[in-house]
Order: sequence, then structure tokens, then C-alpha cells
Amino acid sequence: MEGFKPVSQSETVITELMIPAYANFGGKIHGGTILSQMDKVAYACAAKHAGTYCVTASIDAVDFLAPVEVGELLSLRARVNYVGNSSMVIGIRVESVNVKTGVLKHTNTSYFTMVAQDDDHRTIQVPGLILETAEDVRRFADAINRKKLKRHYKAETEKIKGELCMEDIVRMLEGERCMLQGDINILAL
Ligand SMILES: CC(C)(COP(=O)(O)OP(=O)(O)OC[C@H]1O[C@@H](n2cnc3c(N)ncnc32)[C@H](O)[C@@H]1OP(=O)(O)O)[C@@H](O)C(=O)NCCC(=O)NCCS
Repeated sequence: MEGFKPVSQSETVITELMIPAYANFGGKIHGGTILSQMDKVAYACAAKHAGTYCVTASIDAVDFLAPVEVGELLSLRARVNYVGNSSMVIGIRVESVNVKTGVLKHTNTSYFTMVAQDDDHRTIQVPGLILETAEDVRRFADAINRKKLKRHYKAETEKIKGELCMEDIVRMLEGERCMLQGDINILAL
């Protein structure tokens, strides 16, 4: 189908050995290293689908579910979950395996929104998405729901912020582990 590409065409997997240079002071793999790998695989997948340069517009929630150890093999699987006009939501699942024991851990799942651009950095339309499996359909629908929830969250946050008065803020701080230092003019908030 012209102007459409299947999910499978841009599916991308990166596997990398976690070497000691990636470790933090605690001996575990640095979160920033994992984020960088996630951004790379998201870019590769998005650029394959779009056939052009892409930028990262946003990242939806990265929870580190389990630590990654030096010596493990980290695999990042990226798929286009959703396409808008110039944007694509790339779902990424990260797993880490201990090659000696074979134990596999699911360490992260996240959703990167990537935007396609032309050579002059103008946003351009990306091909539509051919959904090949029931899972593809579920992921596409889930992405629509997340977009709706994000819009709702943003609107609610702005509304609550706009309605908060000084007394509300003071009440919110009660029982929290903080103290006001010196002569802060909270009326200036
Ligand atoms: C992302 C960026 C290109 C969007 O530019 P813009 O002028 O806001 O473009 P538009 O308003 O036309 O939006 C383009 C698309 O991006 C989406 N988008 C823009 N900001 C977004 C955000 N924060 N989260 C999710 N989607 C976003 C829009 O919904 C739109 O999607 P659609 O075309 O599928 O409908 C621009 O903000 C940018 O260049 N940001 C910096 C990117 C960057 O430096 N990333 C890190 C290094 S790669």
C-alpha cells in the first residue's frame, strides 16, 4: 500500500554488552547509559519508518524496574506504535540477560515521541502504519489513550495551579519533610 509501511519493516533491536565503563559508583549500569541506548534505538526505528532525519520530542515515563549489572547483555526492542502526521510514538522494551545463568530481566518500557524533519529541519509527514497483528492494534490504541491522558493531565495541572491560593500551598506543606528558611515571602508565589 503506497504511503504506508508495516510495523515489522522498522522494528529494531540493539543488543550491547554492558562493560565496566558504563557502571556508576554503585557498580550498576548508569541510568543515563540506558537512556542513551533507548534514544538511539528510538531514532533508528523512527528514521527507518520515516525515511528521514528525526528528533526526539518527548519521552513518556522511564521507570527503572531492575538494576542492570556489568557483564549482562542489554537488548532494546523498538517498534512504531503509532503515527500522527509528522510524529511517531516508538515503544521500547528493554531486557537484560545474564549470559551465564540465562536469567532475563525486564528493566524498562518507555514511549518516545519522535518527529520527522526534512533537510531544512521542517516537520514532514511520515508514512501511515500497517498494523499486522492484534498486538499492533492494541499498541496503536494504547498510544491514542496515552495522548488523551497526557492532554487531560496537562489541562488539569494548569487548572489546579491556577486555582491554588497561598493558604492551599501552606496547607500542602504541613506534614511534609520540609521547613521554610528565613524570611521567605510566600505572598510572592
Ligand atoms: C519536536 C519539535 C520538532 C516540534 O516542533 P513544533 O514546531 O512544535 O512542531 P509542530 O507543532 O508542528 O508539531 C509537530 C509534531 O510534533 C508533535 N509534538 C510536538 N511537541 C511534542 C511533545 N512535546 N510531545 C509529543 N509530541 C509533540 C506534535 O503533536 C506534532 O505531531 P503531528 O505532526 O503528528 O500532529 C520541536 O519542538 C523541536 O525541534 N524540539 C527540539 C528537539 C530536540 O532537540 N530533541 C533532542 C535532540 S534530537
